[in-house]
Amino acid sequence: MKHIFRWILCLLVLLPSLGFSATDQLIQIKTQNTVMVIQSSPNKDLRFLYWGDQLNAGDSFTQGLNAQGEISAYPAYGGRVNINPALKLTHIDGLLTTELGFQSVEHKSLDNNVSETIIKMKDLLYDFVVNIHYTAYFDQDVITQYVTLENNEKGQVAVEQVASSFLPIYANQYYLTHFHGSWAHEFMMEEEQLTHGIKKIESLKGVRTTQTDNPSFLLALNHNAQENEGEVYGGALAWSGNYTLSFQEDESGRMNIVSGINPFASTIKLEKGETFATPKMILSYSDCGKGQISRNFHNWAREYGMTHGSELNPTVLNSWEGVYFSFDEKSIKGLIDDAASMGVEMFVLDDGWFGNKYPRNNDKAGLGDWQVNHKKLPKGIGDLADYAVNKGVKFGIWIEPEMVNPKSELAENHPDWIVQSGKREKYQQRNQWLLDLSNPKVQDYVYSVFDEVMKMSSNISYIKWDANRHVDNVGSTYLPADKQTHFWYDYTQGLYSVYQRIRENYPDVIIQDCSSGGGRVDFGAMKYHDEFWASDNTNALDRIFIQYGTNTFFPAMATASHVSTAPNHQTGMVLPLKFRFDVASTGRLGMELQPKDIPAQELPFAKAALKTYKEILRPIVMKGDLYRLISPYDNDGSWYSILYVSKDKKESAYFTYNLKTQGRETHLCSKLRGLDPNKTYRIEELNKAKRGYFAGDGKTFTGDYLMKVGIPINFYFPYESCVLHLVAVN
Ligand code: GLA
Repeated sequence: MKHIFRWILCLLVLLPSLGFSATDQLIQIKTQNTVMVIQSSPNKDLRFLYWGDQLNAGDSFTQGLNAQGEISAYPAYGGRVNINPALKLTHIDGLLTTELGFQSVEHKSLDNNVSETIIKMKDLLYDFVVNIHYTAYFDQDVITQYVTLENNEKGQVAVEQVASSFLPIYANQYYLTHFHGSWAHEFMMEEEQLTHGIKKIESLKGVRTTQTDNPSFLLALNHNAQENEGEVYGGALAWSGNYTLSFQEDESGRMNIVSGINPFASTIKLEKGETFATPKMILSYSDCGKGQISRNFHNWAREYGMTHGSELNPTVLNSWEGVYFSFDEKSIKGLIDDAASMGVEMFVLDDGWFGNKYPRNNDKAGLGDWQVNHKKLPKGIGDLADYAVNKGVKFGIWIEPEMVNPKSELAENHPDWIVQSGKREKYQQRNQWLLDLSNPKVQDYVYSVFDEVMKMSSNISYIKWDANRHVDNVGSTYLPADKQTHFWYDYTQGLYSVYQRIRENYPDVIIQDCSSGGGRVDFGAMKYHDEFWASDNTNALDRIFIQYGTNTFFPAMATASHVSTAPNHQTGMVLPLKFRFDVASTGRLGMELQPKDIPAQELPFAKAALKTYKEILRPIVMKGDLYRLISPYDNDGSWYSILYVSKDKKESAYFTYNLKTQGRETHLCSKLRGLDPNKTYRIEELNKAKRGYFAGDGKTFTGDYLMKVGIPINFYFPYESCVLHLVAVN
């Protein structure tokens, strides 16, 4: 019924409206709680009128007012456009300007939840078409936008700027939140008030772009972003290459947001008859704060933005921090035995298993030679995979197929496959070079690495795909001299075409998206992956901040989060095992250590925590709604507290952490959120180690009480943590 109503509404709004000339139209793009309104007139530019809460506007939009001012929904450089434009072309005869005129609009229902609106625009003088695609995901309150170009001019057109989306917003003040970082320090949050001028978030690294700045943002109106109230727009670009998100407060005080691939050194020369598609920009609006934006993105991601988003990812023991490059058959089988005895569901053999002429015994050699190292593993990968499966543990393996060590047979045989800038030096990062994925032969090779590794055993069910460097000294021996600027776009499309082929042929395998840790956490890559490695920093205290950042847009189920040893290898910190488990249990729980290094007296706790995660916490964390109760960025970094609530509100998992010495203030009162006020919940404290922290353990409370009065948690020392399980009893 809801859907029929939605259809009738859509048809109505496409009819000419009162107060408009007969040929004008209001185009409305609707989601459950929001509506975007655009006005079209034949052969004129589009006018952006509104994107916000659903409203009863009657004929108001046709009365000639425009609160946003005269603003195009997709401004091209030309005409009166004097802001940062969404599109800049140089036409066949060298003309620098473009003026787009509306041609037609098409509205397609893709299924009961998803509808697409395609607005066709054409240059008023030249035969150049720009299609703006809006896809509305009704239940998730998400709209994605991308653009396709068709060059029907008589020759080549240079595309110097083509954004995926343009979003004009009008408010008194704008607060931008974005996430930046570096290796082992990814996804740190920064919020600032924007002023007049342009603020850009961008990457020019080509690969591993999200290690520094993630292509996502929150823009809060009039005051800084609140968790549960206030107007917030969220955006994330589905692209793993160079990008720019630009925020320009113009002379009228309007915020113009242009999002898309980075135009720097990236002119696309479109030949006659050629088409071009931008990546998708994923957008969401809420007047209930950034918490709701996160839930919208999580809901969208599980359904549309990742692989196997409706399944529960297995717990993992990864070999990296346990053995690094130094292992043999015996030590790996020992790890598999430990995984089995602890109840871990998947064992992943990380780096170091390949290379013979140039054995991969450290990061200086062997990358590119994907044959099993006979010295370390004489019986091969199949033997290990069978061994694991016979023990009841699934088997996964690490690859880094886009890269090559100079010391490798691959580099000797295919020097032309390496990204290079003529005769200039090919700089190494982590002793490796990057392969040129703009070259179809390299795409075939990268696909074949995956394919051949998968064929080593039918018992391989997980691949960790790594990418440990970015682009320096750009250049391709494959691309012609006049198309070197296509490299940035073609590399990423080359990567996606490989991913696509892999998914067509290996739909079931679990693939982890890793790139020196969190270097490729974006929705372009996520589409083909089941999970990502958020950071090489496994220190639980740092992970609180890193996962707070990643989980602003990406769901917990995709966040691989491992318990590692103490002292931690990246920071030297010694944190309690319980704290480490309680942090890792808020994502996809795993371990990255030698289980035999866990002190004997703590082993029962570790086993029990794994069991509790699998049986109780995992489904709530992976599929529930996230409510952030206390940010680690507030109160001088004293506390962190989050809650996951199952969709039916019958169960909830509450996690809270004491991050500092607090003198006598170790009593935290938490007001929960997202529960059903009319239900009564029985609360049980989980993962208890030496002592419990919740005096109401085993007692019942109404949802209304828990949300309005709250519950006290009594900590004693820093780095204590508390996990509660709430189950509705009525
Ligand atoms: C990267 C990854 C790590 C590990 C190493 C192996 O740094 O992020 O998890 O796989 O490579 O070399």
